[in-house]
Amino acid sequence: MTVSLSLERSCSNDLVIMIDALRASTTITSALQRFNTVIPVKSIENAVNIAGGLDARLAGEREGAKIDGFDVGNSPVDILKFSGEVLVLTTTNGTRVLEGMNAKVLIGSFTNAEAVAIKAIELADQHIELVMAGVKGRFVIEDFLSAGEILSHIIHLEDQEMDEMALAALMASLDKDMVDNAVKGSESAARLRGLGLEKDIEFSLQRDIYNTVPIYKNGVIKILK
Ligand code: MLT
Repeated sequence: MTVSLSLERSCSNDLVIMIDALRASTTITSALQRFNTVIPVKSIENAVNIAGGLDARLAGEREGAKIDGFDVGNSPVDILKFSGEVLVLTTTNGTRVLEGMNAKVLIGSFTNAEAVAIKAIELADQHIELVMAGVKGRFVIEDFLSAGEILSHIIHLEDQEMDEMALAALMASLDKDMVDNAVKGSESAARLRGLGLEKDIEFSLQRDIYNTVPIYKNGVIKILK
């Protein structure tokens, strides 16, 4: 099995783990504790149209802030106050990155790192690719370190060959206190703190509070059974 790490774009036709630790991956995993289906949508307009047709709840952010008229922002904490059949979610990076992926796509974060690693090993034929969502094409440290946390559960797999970026993420994630400090000191965290969303940073850094794994298929996200 080969294991690789990439930024924003996927080259795999096998198994991808999409990671947007602050916050889309974490919010999607939280949302699926309360909703059966999450529909990720790129534009605000489409999100509103799709939600209207389905009588769904609307969630999303632009520049981190809740979108006017939406039920809730892209918050893994606030989403837990809602429930229903379908949630339509639009975010700047995470939902956009999912589009156009050809592989089986799982959603990973600190909050379900072990569970997503186990499922990826089960489902992949020969290649697990972790894809960091980043921010507008740029590397961000929280996705890198969250990838490292997931890789720490994949490393036990026999006969795996990790590329150098994956190996670097794994090594960088070994010291939990350093990871927490780096994520809390990140640009994304500063932006969230500026919006009064400190609670989302703390929540997203919790390890393995969920043993559920979201899977993206045919344009929708559900819990992998
Ligand atoms: C995104 O998908 O763009 C992010 O999760 C942004 C955020 O909610 O802070």
